[in-house]
Amino acid sequence: MSIRRKTKELQDRMNIALSGGGEKAIEKQVAMGKLPARERVEAILDNGTFHEYDLFVEHQAKEFDMDKKILNADGVITGTGTIYGHSVCIYAQDFTVAGGSLGLAHARKITKIMDHAMKLGIPIIGINDSGGARIQEGVNSLAGYGEIFFRNTLASGVIPQISVILGPCAGGAVYSPALTDFVFVVDKISKMFITGPEVIKTVLGEEISMDDLGGARVHTEITGNAHFYAETELECFEQIKKLVTFVPWNNKKKADKFPTRKPRSKFKIDGIIPTDSKQPYDVRDVINSIVDDSDFLEIQEGWAPNMVIGLARLNGDTVGFVANQPLVMAGVLDVDSSDKAARFIRYCDAFNIPIITLVDLPGYLPGIDQEHAGVIRHGAKVLYSYSEATVTKITVILRKAYGGGYIAMNSRHLGADFVLAWPSAEIAVMGPEGAANIIFRKEIAEAENPEEMRKLKVKEYKKRFANPYAAAAYGYIDAVIDPTETRSYLMHALDVSKNKQELRPWKKHGIPPF
Ligand code: HXC
Repeated sequence: MSIRRKTKELQDRMNIALSGGGEKAIEKQVAMGKLPARERVEAILDNGTFHEYDLFVEHQAKEFDMDKKILNADGVITGTGTIYGHSVCIYAQDFTVAGGSLGLAHARKITKIMDHAMKLGIPIIGINDSGGARIQEGVNSLAGYGEIFFRNTLASGVIPQISVILGPCAGGAVYSPALTDFVFVVDKISKMFITGPEVIKTVLGEEISMDDLGGARVHTEITGNAHFYAETELECFEQIKKLVTFVPWNNKKKADKFPTRKPRSKFKIDGIIPTDSKQPYDVRDVINSIVDDSDFLEIQEGWAPNMVIGLARLNGDTVGFVANQPLVMAGVLDVDSSDKAARFIRYCDAFNIPIITLVDLPGYLPGIDQEHAGVIRHGAKVLYSYSEATVTKITVILRKAYGGGYIAMNSRHLGADFVLAWPSAEIAVMGPEGAANIIFRKEIAEAENPEEMRKLKVKEYKKRFANPYAAAAYGYIDAVIDPTETRSYLMHALDVSKNKQELRPWKKHGIPPF
């Protein structure tokens, strides 16, 4: 065969393989508001950089007439490309081909590109749009999932792993995203659940829509499984591209340095904290008034909003923020906010991102619901993550730092490198009212006017402890600073700790309170 004929054969074969599930299936996909798989990949990557692998992979299944079925690219597109000039590995399941279901060949394409990402030390982005394990391929499909989960776990903390849920992600398939660093969902398109509506109807006799069961809002607000929510696929792709500008390409690298930019002038740090210590405020205003260009990428914004986490830059370098949010439940630590903070601390530590902790909380949330939900176990994760982390850890106590909350939020005692406090800081075992009621119980009860006496004792207690100076006297905080000095102090602390090294005792791994 001449070269020209061979080239023609290649073109013909490619045209077939690239046609996915055919025109009708693609039309159905588009009618559902979903982009075809290759268009998704191309929209995320820099123009014209996608290089596809394994286009001609074929399944070897025979059962249920599978030997008569041709599944183009076996329902998953894999390859490499760049984002802002940096290489990434990517795969996208193609729902138009057998519902994007995962058989052995499909799984092997995914594990091959994951192995590639690990060897090259570059991120892996996975677009999920699939009916789950390919039923006709039986245990081979299950094996495929197992192989993917194994690699997700090995890659965890080594290369960034990003999951994008752009269709159904059903059954065991959900566990791959759950093992990755960041999960992106899109309104009306993402559907993520272990057991679908059909199974629920059969087993429990209940009717429930896929959206109510595992739609985008469910996972950004109720379960915390997703980290970013978008209204459209294109908005989601912009979010992914923004996120990757903040993250290092692997655990041995630092994120790209950007030019330093001052916070925008509309964000003024002075006067954010109300004079009445019971009044709430938005801690994101504090973050925006500190960071470069007031550009804060909040993560898991809709879930456990009493804790704010996210990425930003100081002096052009990426930093992670963990901050109590006084606007929601006074910023208390509870089961979900503890999980949220703890996982992010470990993420930052794994990828060499310094952590800045902003403290204003009355402590752990009291009550039988929280106790029974395991606030002891979940709260311990925060202590564990901070203590374990060896990246630069800086704390700024803005206002309340009471009891367990003081210790948990990256106190000096858990290994903070720098602890700063604003003059408004109140560092104490508990709030003034509760404390006065306990330690002055006798005086209050025996007073002629107990209410007057109580107020007096609260005032006395506040004067003694509701300030940063008792802690400063013991050296538990390094400096009491004017809020306007916060940005320059933080930049200095990051600068002097550029080469920080801290060793931990050798171990195979710890046993965190999962
Ligand atoms: C084989 C599948 C499939 C699957 C869908 N298809 N899911 N083929 N295995 N798991 C096929 C359909 O037969 C159909 O083929 C095409 O994909 C499109 O599917 P539809 O049902 O027509 O699409 P839609 O109405 O949009 O519904 C999508 C869906 C539904 C909600 C995802 O297909 C569904 O419920 N699928 C099964 C989901 C599920 O329970 N998966 C869990 C499997 S068990 P044709 O040829 O008609 O176009 C599992 C365990 C793994 O994953 C455990 C690992 C630890």
